[in-house]
Amino acid sequence: MKKILLSGVVAGLTASSLWSANIVATKVHHSLENISEVSPLWKEADTAEVGLYPQTTVKMFDKKANEMNAENGSKMAKVQALYNDSEIAFLVRWRDNTLSIQKGYRSDSYGDGFAVQFAKDFSNPETLPYIGMGSEGREVLVHLQKAAPNTFEPNGHGNVALQVGRKNTNAFNEELAQFDADVKKAGVVDYERTFVSAGFRSMTEIKDGSVNSDMNMVYNIKRNCWKGTLNRPLKDEYVNLDAPAIPVAFAVWDGGKNNRDGLKLLSGWNSVTLAGKDGGDALVSALNDAPEGDVVNGKAQYEMNCAACHLTKDIQMTMPNMAPELSNIGGYASAGYIRESIVDPDAVVVPGYNRNAHPNTPWYNVVDGKRTSTMPSFSWLDEKSLTDIVAYVKTLKAEEE
Ligand code: HEC
Repeated sequence: MKKILLSGVVAGLTASSLWSANIVATKVHHSLENISEVSPLWKEADTAEVGLYPQTTVKMFDKKANEMNAENGSKMAKVQALYNDSEIAFLVRWRDNTLSIQKGYRSDSYGDGFAVQFAKDFSNPETLPYIGMGSEGREVLVHLQKAAPNTFEPNGHGNVALQVGRKNTNAFNEELAQFDADVKKAGVVDYERTFVSAGFRSMTEIKDGSVNSDMNMVYNIKRNCWKGTLNRPLKDEYVNLDAPAIPVAFAVWDGGKNNRDGLKLLSGWNSVTLAGKDGGDALVSALNDAPEGDVVNGKAQYEMNCAACHLTKDIQMTMPNMAPELSNIGGYASAGYIRESIVDPDAVVVPGYNRNAHPNTPWYNVVDGKRTSTMPSFSWLDEKSLTDIVAYVKTLKAEEE
């Protein structure tokens, strides 16, 4: 298995495969509508390894959960993709040692899950949406699947907690069998959601049936491994993926470690090339080329210019929460995004988990209704220093678990 170097003596690195992987979608002439994780069609597709990194930028208010995840390393997901004239499908495999199924609507039970994210506009590979949940003016579409049990929901209102559970039915034998049959029929057998989002707190679930997608996840108990599938149209009113190369990102939640919301492992934008279509080189190269630059000088520059606000695993010269924690930023942010963050902090403003937690050091101010970053622009840096800092920041990511 591939090990990822942390920092320091990375100067001699050349292999681009260390940074991220291009996923090749194989063209097939079959329908992908009902494709499952066991479909023989997957044998026709290449497998790419995609790194998933602990989301450390923004911490949530849950001491126990934060502690459970403090030592998280990265995981490698195996990803395959297929497409035809009108559909695209993904198979994602990742390791998870604890099978966790969300228990109904209990707020202390967390299910395993995965998400696949697409960018609405990817015409400029240097300004893709913020990887978390998109950003202002840069919308994403998120397909989310959580492991959830059948729940009896005869009235269809989603208020399962207020409805009768199996133990409270006072039913026995045939009656109970009838109850179980009803549950199965009326049950919400699936927790699949699709959202559009253009930044933190702007997530909007699409509930009008206008997304014609299907997700599934199946756990292999012997291998402690999830297999998740997504199939969807190449094109709908939210995204147009009918292009030579498209960006895609993945996230996984481990319910056994109380993962939910932002507490997850996520990839950066990965390129997917649709085999047989010409073009898309700019996107592939923006997302896969190892950044040029002198990592050792980049680190020195980083200590001088950035460490007063940002923490990483290795460089702790300030207090927590002054600014996003960057220990894994190289895993889930592209070089283009990092460069943009440095020279134009207002382009994407990471909102922080709670503006009031550190009233003296807010991450943004609101000017004329628009968020502006409190990070100063470093556009005055000379090109070499900038390139070196980006190359160094790109090395910041946890090793594989
Ligand atoms: C005065 C404090 C301060 C300094 C100095 C500073 N930053 Fe920031 N940085 C912030 C704050 C606050 C944010 C969150 C708001 C935003 O997104 O701009 C941020 C955001 C970022 C982000 C986006 C993080 C994410 O999760 O998307 C990156 C990358 C970044 N900074 C890198 C740097 C680098 C590299 C330097 C040095 C060249 C630097 N910063 C210097 C305060 C600072």
